[in-house]
Amino acid sequence: MKQICYKGLKFEPYIENQTIKNRIKELGEQITKDCQGTVPLFICVLNGAFPFAADLIREVGIDAEIAFIRLKSYEGTGSTGKVKEVLGLTESLEGRTVIVVEDIVDTGNTIHKLTADLEKQNPAQLKVATLLFKPQALQCDVTPDYVGFEIPSKFIIGFGLDLDGIARNLPDIWVLSEENNQ
Ligand code: IMP
Ligand code: MG
Repeated sequence: MKQICYKGLKFEPYIENQTIKNRIKELGEQITKDCQGTVPLFICVLNGAFPFAADLIREVGIDAEIAFIRLKSYEGTGSTGKVKEVLGLTESLEGRTVIVVEDIVDTGNTIHKLTADLEKQNPAQLKVATLLFKPQALQCDVTPDYVGFEIPSKFIIGFGLDLDGIARNLPDIWVLSEENNQ
């Protein structure tokens, strides 16, 4: 079995680049149908979603715009837990069709907080497109509108997803090998 190693951890092939591209094409076609008559604003959540967002918008056959945001995480005090602040959004969302583009929805905390913040700007529609979704890890009331692949709660890298900042540039997606536990 082909393997790669990062930071002493072994990874195995999981989803090939061509399979990812084919699926993104289907998502683009679906968005094109669903958003006819609007000019959707795609909001790409950096860093992880950039390869997905770049491919997705090129599969959308209607006029569209793209904006990029980062989420600043910091620990709040007491029981507030982890708070995330949106950085970099200058576009007005009022009355727009907005599609948040994420690499992965895991616990759902990030997307839950983000969509709650964006809703305050009164978009006409607010949708979520995520390349990957781990439904078994979900802890929030979140249902992504466009999902590339539903996967089990395993750690993956590649196609934007990182291990401590590296491996985002891998064209394929790789999964942490069970061998690491042996
Ligand atoms: P959340 O748990 O849904 O809030 O996801 C938070 C973030 O965790 C995601 O945006 C990713 O950056 C990261 N993440 C979750 N699962 C994985 C994974 O399997 N590989 C790499 N990053 C992940
Ligand atoms: Mg992310």
